[in-house]
Amino acid sequence: MGQYLFRVLGSQRYAGGVKHSRGRHQCLRAVAQGTQVPKTSILVVGGTGTLGRQIVRRALDEGYEVRCIVRPRQNPADFLRDWGASTVQADLGDPTSLPAALVGIHTVIDCATARPEEPTTKVDWVGKKALIQCAQAMGIQRYLFFSIHNCEQHKTVPLMRIKACTEEFLQQSGVPYTIFRLCGFMQAIIGNYAVPILEERQVWGTTDQTRTAYMDSQDVAKLALASLRVEGTVGKRIPLAGPQAWTVSEVIKECEKLAGANAKVTEVPVWLLKAAHGFLRFNQWGRDAADRLAFVDILASNETFSADMAETYKLLGLDPSSTTTLQAYLQEYYSSILKKLKQVGASSKQTDFYV
Ligand SMILES: NC(=O)c1ccc[n+]([C@@H]2O[C@H](COP(=O)([O-])OP(=O)(O)OC[C@H]3O[C@@H](n4cnc5c(N)ncnc54)[C@H](OP(=O)(O)O)[C@@H]3O)[C@@H](O)[C@H]2O)c1
Repeated sequence: MGQYLFRVLGSQRYAGGVKHSRGRHQCLRAVAQGTQVPKTSILVVGGTGTLGRQIVRRALDEGYEVRCIVRPRQNPADFLRDWGASTVQADLGDPTSLPAALVGIHTVIDCATARPEEPTTKVDWVGKKALIQCAQAMGIQRYLFFSIHNCEQHKTVPLMRIKACTEEFLQQSGVPYTIFRLCGFMQAIIGNYAVPILEERQVWGTTDQTRTAYMDSQDVAKLALASLRVEGTVGKRIPLAGPQAWTVSEVIKECEKLAGANAKVTEVPVWLLKAAHGFLRFNQWGRDAADRLAFVDILASNETFSADMAETYKLLGLDPSSTTTLQAYLQEYYSSILKKLKQVGASSKQTDFYV
């Protein structure tokens, strides 16, 4: 598969392990091996993101020393420092910035992924390969990576192909790893459906029957950090799925019920998305958009993104009943937001439930 990846992704070749510049990396390893790093020192990559911030928060609460890679952004990462993490400027798009961030680190928790405006290949493949090579060279002792459920079965979708390739690259690197395979985060539902329905704005639906077992990113953080306490998770690929798998139309119905409002749904047929994907793919300017629209192949498959979690909870020694359900998550969101709206005396065109 390495050869195939090299051709498809047009990236640096590797065979039977991670390629590196021997002299420089041996030197880095010697420095790293001469220094005892505490097990509690963690580097979070992607600490400003949906999952990353929950990992940082929970790791600090559990007593870890947390360092985060941050980039100069419009919304600065002050909140991470306010919580007690330290920050270091680095960028997956600039591999030379990575080694300094890893000095004194025992565990790397990689929660980064390209933002919608950035090329996926540059961040999720080229950048991650550089990070893993660096971790290998510097003797990093644990590496947590977040992948996607069944990614190897959807190689026509660029991000899925990259996740499958990165899993393989990490497995061959010799770095003690744990891979988590996620289905989706509940947090995305707030911006895509819960808020627009409350604000009587249009939401986009599709005609597919694909189901996703969403998880609250706080639960994902809890399970991921639990893995650091369980030696048996090293070298494992662990599924992470919520208690129930939902279609988009079921999610919209649940939001309507809790918001007491009717959603203005514009349904986009899957065939139309497929046509748009095909058109963009053959236009240079549309390639990045096409890469993201390639997910339509998954919608067309009507697959269920879920996994049996019994083994995962057993391995991690955690109780499945403490995992948040989507109903409870949305209920909590709507009851707190509706309470606030009531306090400020807001009103709705549809009903009088705000006041
Ligand atoms: N979201 C899902 O439903 C889902 C499903 C399956 C798997 N996953 C995986 O779970 C992980 C976390 O996803 P998420 O949704 O929490 O991501 P997210 O909210 O989009 O956050 C992405 C993070 O990556 C950072 N990042 C992006 N480009 C970078 C670069 N060049 N250098 C350094 N950092 C960079 C961002 O930093 P800035 O703030 O600087 O941009 C941000 O902290 C990812 O590996 C993702 O593929 C997510």
